[in-house]
Amino acid sequence: MTQIGSNLQIDPERLWDTIHETAKFGATPKGGVRRLTLGPEDKQVRDWFRARCEAAGLEVHVDALGSMFGLRKGRDMSRAPIGLGSHLDTQPTGGKFDGVLGTLAALEVVRTLNDAGIETEAPICICNWTNEEGSRFAPAMMASAAYVGDFTTEDILSRRDAAGVSVGEALDSIGYRGDRPVGTQKFSGFVELHIEQGPILEAENKTIGVVDSGQGVLWYDGRITGFESHAGTTPMPLRRDALATLAEIVLAMEAIANRHGPKAVGTVGEAVIANPSRNVIPGEIAFTMDCRSAEAAIMDALDRDLRAAIAAIAARRKVEVTLDLVWRKPPTHFDPRLVDAVESAAKMLGLSHRRITSGAGHDACNLNTVMPAAMVFVPCKDGVSHNELEDASKADCAAGANVLMHTVLALAGVAS
Ligand code: GLV
Ligand code: MN
Ligand code: MN
Repeated sequence: MTQIGSNLQIDPERLWDTIHETAKFGATPKGGVRRLTLGPEDKQVRDWFRARCEAAGLEVHVDALGSMFGLRKGRDMSRAPIGLGSHLDTQPTGGKFDGVLGTLAALEVVRTLNDAGIETEAPICICNWTNEEGSRFAPAMMASAAYVGDFTTEDILSRRDAAGVSVGEALDSIGYRGDRPVGTQKFSGFVELHIEQGPILEAENKTIGVVDSGQGVLWYDGRITGFESHAGTTPMPLRRDALATLAEIVLAMEAIANRHGPKAVGTVGEAVIANPSRNVIPGEIAFTMDCRSAEAAIMDALDRDLRAAIAAIAARRKVEVTLDLVWRKPPTHFDPRLVDAVESAAKMLGLSHRRITSGAGHDACNLNTVMPAAMVFVPCKDGVSHNELEDASKADCAAGANVLMHTVLALAGVAS
């Protein structure tokens, strides 16, 4: 097997240009991207991605949940490919880098290997996973979750967005319900490059995060049922106000996460008042909650404390509160051999690095449950993500793509 040294590098300009080329699909006036999964802008970026993969000589196929796979043959086709990639959907007010960097860096790795005439022993397969973000359809990372068997394909196809459109209908409307059953594209390992989406690497002036673990996630759908009544005539002690109840729940969530901190976070991200009106006391509110920790025991404590606090608030205010746990993702511990491979690549390239826990969820976290997986992080400006202001430097994106490439080469092997 041939050894490839640090002189093999991706093309930073080409990677940067492709990131900015895709940013026009769903570009927002503030410089961000709105590319909700399976919407018209997602179709545009998918068509673009398919064409670029085919131009790079990849065989592209799509599975029944719309995840896209571009296969580059290896010398030994009896080996399952090494997977690399991420996602191309964004948050409603998302940035140019979340998911995009990892997917386009995977394309850049293929282009670089093509230009250098390098054949790998095992094939490699670049991926664009459907609905990583989870903002249109829940849960987040649903296609990779179905891939690993956490949900059936039928279950995911029937999930609906706020307008009542199902995943199946959305896939058909953009022509991305593929013919491959979910899970049939096998991998011998998976590596995902991503921006950190947090402040640690930037604060410590490190270029590469060697991701060894990821936070677990609890997602809840909540509903508060109080009583609608006249804002002018209903005395304060007689009210059963759903919004005042939510206010207490939000503060309870914050206090509980703080109490279990620094290894816990909690957020109420959505709240919808039914039939809102200035002079009606809110009677019905739907809301969502997102709680995370990298420690399973803390996740259990968050769940317990949250339920107890909400029950007490509801009883005192004489309202009904239901809380459905719609998603529970345990903490991730990435495969030690692949984590070491990422670290070795960073060292070989002479890049400053540290081990790090991912605060965000990623498709690699799901995939790690059925195959060895690992992640590479690069810093993002001020640690900001899920925001149109999200930014990362050209040099850091290139450094991350180089670590990705050399990790994949070490895993796939280079044919002599
Ligand atoms: C995915 O973006 C997440 O919620 O972590
Ligand atoms: Mn992402
Ligand atoms: Mn995201």
